[in-house]
Amino acid sequence: MKVTVVGAGAVGASCAEYIAIKNFASEVVLVDIKENFAEGKAMDLMQTASLNGFDTQIIGSTNDYSKTADSDVAVITSGIPRKPGMTREELIGINAGIVKDVAGKIIEHSPNVILIVVSNPMDTMTYLAHKELGLPKNRIIGMGGALDSARFKYRLAEALECPASDVDGMVIGGHSDTGMIPLTRLATRNSVPVSAFISGERLEEVKEATKVGGATLTKMLGTSAWYAPGAAVSAMVQAIAQDSKKMFPCSCKLEGEYGLDDICIGVPALIGRSGIEEIVEIGLDDAEKEKLQESADAVRKTNGLL
Ligand code: LAC
Repeated sequence: MKVTVVGAGAVGASCAEYIAIKNFASEVVLVDIKENFAEGKAMDLMQTASLNGFDTQIIGSTNDYSKTADSDVAVITSGIPRKPGMTREELIGINAGIVKDVAGKIIEHSPNVILIVVSNPMDTMTYLAHKELGLPKNRIIGMGGALDSARFKYRLAEALECPASDVDGMVIGGHSDTGMIPLTRLATRNSVPVSAFISGERLEEVKEATKVGGATLTKMLGTSAWYAPGAAVSAMVQAIAQDSKKMFPCSCKLEGEYGLDDICIGVPALIGRSGIEEIVEIGLDDAEKEKLQESADAVRKTNGLL
């Protein structure tokens, strides 16, 4: 499996590192526009191969997409990240041009690629990639829900004072501070609803902390986070490589599912060798349905800025 990661910044480099450490890909090509930057990151990462025990070859390229030829999966992380106080939506002006350009160059060299969009505002950038490339809807996936769900599990584990591996939970909706919908009703600890362990009030706090998970870190770090985003992307790439049909909430182009059409937004999907193998329609209660509708309205508003 050959994977291209465009953008050798913090998210792209973390993503390449996690993919390499998991040792399922033969090659990772890191691409960046900054002269020698991707080559440097690739060399630094390759010098960890003997220490971390992986055989994946990581190579860097300064904007030479011929090196990405015949990639099975490509990840777009390029664009500017958030600064403290900014919303993801504010990045649209600069990032839309970058994503359009990068997506076109990837497809030129890898016509059969599965594309994972990470650049923000992610749901709108995923929609833009669909509009620009016109690929079958299974081949373009937005990464958001996998990250937001990991942050939800972190907050649940914190509240329940238990390991994150004990809890399960999912975040659907748009990848934005107000659009995310942590499905608290369905969250469990070892199959037991979390409401058996914490109060409704505490669960509400968990929900709110999850929604601003990215903003909280941006404030602390001065730029947006990278370890959890990189790990979330690598988990999705692994599901494609191993054709595992693992379920991730991710930004999918909807054609009637969940009563929504002509939009990319986070819903559960099975990820395998064809990308989105199936969109899973789970039963939502009325309040959750209403929230998803509101979240979709907000994503459409951002799409309107394209
Ligand atoms: C975050 C960015 C990647 O949520 O959107 O950290």
